[in-house]
Amino acid sequence: MDAAALQTTPEVRIRPYAPDDADALWAILHAVFSTGETYAYPTDVGRDEALTGWTTPPARAWVAEAAGTVLGSSRVMPNQPGQGAHVANGSFVVAPEAAGRGVGRALGAHALRAAAALGYRAMQFNLVVSTNHRAIALWESLGFATVGRLPGAFLLHGEEVDALVMHRRLDPPVGADVGAPADANDPAGAGATESGPS
Ligand SMILES: CC(C)(COP(=O)(O)OP(=O)(O)OC[C@H]1O[C@@H](n2cnc3c(N)ncnc32)[C@H](O)[C@@H]1OP(=O)(O)O)[C@@H](O)C(=O)NCCC(=O)NCCS
Repeated sequence: MDAAALQTTPEVRIRPYAPDDADALWAILHAVFSTGETYAYPTDVGRDEALTGWTTPPARAWVAEAAGTVLGSSRVMPNQPGQGAHVANGSFVVAPEAAGRGVGRALGAHALRAAAALGYRAMQFNLVVSTNHRAIALWESLGFATVGRLPGAFLLHGEEVDALVMHRRLDPPVGADVGAPADANDPAGAGATESGPS
């Protein structure tokens, strides 16, 4: 990773994922998934499977970059098909070496706006590992509430730990019909520049 991107940098730009980002995104997904600590993915998930799952429609993916280096990514997709498709599921990864610098907050805030612009009415996280204190603090600060606790639902290095279901309703986008189908091509703010790490 480019050291310049990790210096105290004022801005993180969030833009839609593009195929040229594949190497950078895979590096981050691999770093996160291989720990087995935050996502219910096989720790040895392969590049193609991971990238396909993260970026293939109906999922929409964005990347956060600073100084031209991809530092993290978000994915928004229907939480359920059919009658549950008005609720978004969100997923987020930040490169471990860039963690704690505001990239996750920028991605989360952006994803809430983008999901609303895409017509989703709420966002839900199905499996927030109860030991993932950083993520829980971040989601709570972005307005999510814990609506359920799944006993022992996550195997953390072989030990059962609880997982949280977190949820928040989305603010209707100004001037937009929240009932619009979730297939807009350019959700409001998708290419916006966010205030970033400090
Ligand atoms: C969770 C994750 C997305 C957060 O991204 P990040 O860039 O590290 O987070 P930020 O720097 O934006 O910090 C956001 C908040 O997390 C909290 N936080 C940061 N570091 C923390 C720590 N060490 N312990 C507890 N909370 C912490 C703070 O509330 C912070 O808010 P602040 O802006 O008031 O300081 C990122 O660490 C990550 O990718 N983790 C692995 C994958 C993962 O857990 N994804 C989410 C699954 S639900």
